[in-house]
Amino acid sequence: MEAMEGWQARWREGRTRWDQGREHPELARLLEHARREGELTAAARIFSAGCGRAHNEAYLARCGFEVTAVDLVPEAIDEARKLYGMIPQLHLAVQDVCVLGADELHAYGAVFDRAMLCALEPAHRPQYIEAIRERLSERGLFFSILFRSVRTLQGPPFALDETAAFDLMAADFDLAWAGAAADPGEGNVSEEWLCIWRKKQRKDGNERKDP
Ligand SMILES: C[S@@+](CC[C@H](N)C(=O)[O-])C[C@H]1O[C@@H](n2cnc3c(N)ncnc32)[C@H](O)[C@@H]1O
Repeated sequence: MEAMEGWQARWREGRTRWDQGREHPELARLLEHARREGELTAAARIFSAGCGRAHNEAYLARCGFEVTAVDLVPEAIDEARKLYGMIPQLHLAVQDVCVLGADELHAYGAVFDRAMLCALEPAHRPQYIEAIRERLSERGLFFSILFRSVRTLQGPPFALDETAAFDLMAADFDLAWAGAAADPGEGNVSEEWLCIWRKKQRKDGNERKDP
């Protein structure tokens, strides 16, 4: 994964152009589909890595979910705490997503992602997906807003279209639902899509059913 220093420098220098200042405009629709096609229940605990200022995670917590949101960079979590530290269902922490906490194995019913998977160099994606898979309970959901195409020659962000997502996910996840997102407008991302994946049970797995 990209070293801590690169992300820390972006936060320290205020280079956070990905930040939308509020929840993503398509998050409410994605959540509706996660409930309907993904059968996401109110009891599900949600994990999100690379949360930045945690606008999306605060929205999910305000919808009634218990949400754990982590970021590698302490400055990001400091800023998230200033904005949303008062929300009781939102648990913010400094953590590298690839380092699994002692109580995190199969602990979550769902994982949300916006601009974390697409922030990673393609070579590092499998490591992230494995970290997600480990955190999810049996048949847990991964729901995400992915970038189908980007305007940058050198990432981050890096595009991840449907074909690349299937190549990455299909061994461990089934696609529960996917749909196009509205035009994101100007900026580094030219096209987005929404997707919901359900974790498959591994033949050797004996994973907890409930989050
Ligand atoms: C492009 S930003 C997206 C922030 C946020 N999700 C949003 O939509 O505004 C990616 C974030 O991932 C964080 N990050 C990068 N590598 C990470 C890792 N290994 N573990 C946890 N967070 C990481 C960065 O510090 C940065 O805040």
